[in-house]
Amino acid sequence: MKKIIVGLSVSTLFLCSVWAQDISAKRGQEIFEAKGCVACHKDNVDTIGPSLSTIARGYIGKEKELLSYLRGQAPAIIDPARAPVMDPQLVKIRTLFDPDMQALTTYMISANDRPF
Ligand code: HEC
Repeated sequence: MKKIIVGLSVSTLFLCSVWAQDISAKRGQEIFEAKGCVACHKDNVDTIGPSLSTIARGYIGKEKELLSYLRGQAPAIIDPARAPVMDPQLVKIRTLFDPDMQALTTYMISANDRPF
């Protein structure tokens, strides 16, 4: 019985965290679209800017670094030579509150998990 209860709690916790991650990514997508990031970043083709999947691949396991980059506290690592095109865009998200900044990061990183 004890094992069942522990098992159930663990799976509930797991499901909740997957669910929370989903909500966060959804919010991140809304911000990504509302701030006009989609103009230069497509899902999986590099256009004016690198695609979301290129960015996600570059930042896999480096969610903290991506968060710092978006806050303007870390240098570009994907295509630094073209950073002057991207740098002014960061102004658009400077006023985001922490949870929204986190959601944007989650959305971009989770491009790795999306089939597109
Ligand atoms: C005018 C086109 C343009 C828009 C709009 C734009 N970007 Fe970019 N972005 C670029 C280019 C070009 C690069 C490649 C240079 C670089 O890597 O810094 C880039 C790179 C990036 C990177 C990778 C940074 C790295 O480490 O190299 C991230 C993350 C990013 N953009 C997020 C965003 C977000 C979030 C928005 C919306 C607020 C946005 N971009 C809007 C052109 C754009």
